[in-house]
Amino acid sequence: MARATLRGMRRLFPSSVPPAVPTAPVDPEAPISRPETASPAGPSGSDDRQWTLEEIAEAYAYPAGASKEPWLRGNMVASLDGAAHHQGRSQPLSSDPDMRIFGVLRALADAVVVGAETVRKEGYRPARAREAFAARRAAAGQPPAPAIAVVSASLDLDFSLPLFTEPLTPTLLITGAAAPADRQAAAREAGAVVVHAGEGAAVDPARVPALLAEHGHTRLLTEGGPRLLGRFAAAGVLDELCLTVSPRIAGGDASRVTDGPGLETPLEYRLHSVLEEGGFLFTCYRRSGAAPGAR
Ligand SMILES: NC(=O)c1ccc[n+]([C@@H]2O[C@H](COP(=O)([O-])OP(=O)(O)OC[C@H]3O[C@@H](n4cnc5c(N)ncnc54)[C@H](OP(=O)(O)O)[C@@H]3O)[C@@H](O)[C@H]2O)c1
Repeated sequence: MARATLRGMRRLFPSSVPPAVPTAPVDPEAPISRPETASPAGPSGSDDRQWTLEEIAEAYAYPAGASKEPWLRGNMVASLDGAAHHQGRSQPLSSDPDMRIFGVLRALADAVVVGAETVRKEGYRPARAREAFAARRAAAGQPPAPAIAVVSASLDLDFSLPLFTEPLTPTLLITGAAAPADRQAAAREAGAVVVHAGEGAAVDPARVPALLAEHGHTRLLTEGGPRLLGRFAAAGVLDELCLTVSPRIAGGDASRVTDGPGLETPLEYRLHSVLEEGGFLFTCYRRSGAAPGAR
């Protein structure tokens, strides 16, 4: 079997390999070569094996302080040409390693915040409890599974679905106070916790992290979709973006990972980490100056 097919996940940044010190003057005409031995390695020095869930969890640990103050992390996948979905689904852009990281990010979160359109399009179900994370979650004071928090103004959602009726941790419905009263009642009837984050029907995204913190959820993960993520970013509350770059070209006119209001000045994020497996880049950027409790 070719070596390339054996390769597991490897960390590209931060590198565990110290930069080589040039011993001779650099020839600017020389071709760029990246010897195999210089490639950054995985957590235990090997880059030819699958990382354990525990190692991935360590790589994506929330910053210290996020157990007390809200920290909003986004997780999205984009194609090489910037598409956030292919024919309405993100799955064609994803891969097994991407789904493994997706699952770990969920397992680290108190609550998963998601826009109603993604719930409708992707058929969201309650998050499940995973044995592999049971001890870690218990030690962090978390229930066995994260809550799902759905953001909606229309409340055009099927409240008879397991997402609302059968979650391990009650599903939250984040909406505005003036959203349809009968639909709010139906959500409560189904077992959802209705949270008002606006006076009209719409949600003020800037208020969401603090409101979720009031419900005991500070380690926050948003899985989009693009319209919700764009609003979180524009409101200045997106602390971190874990963006998977998929080695695929989707074409078409799918939105980017944010699809929201224009910003006067682009927001600055700094690179926190990059992993790679199978040609997929698992990047993680944190907002410059962001720290739990900084807002
Ligand atoms: N690439 C990825 O990683 C990724 C991740 C997630 C989703 N996706 C894809 O993205 C597509 C869906 O994304 P999308 O951008 O169309 O929708 P979305 O962001 O998932 O949901 C938009 C909906 O969220 C609610 N919403 C958003 N902001 C709100 C606010 N401020 N106040 C109240 N409600 C608010 C509204 O729901 P109501 O209409 O109910 O009022 C709105 O229609 C799907 O095709 C999905 O596959 C891709």
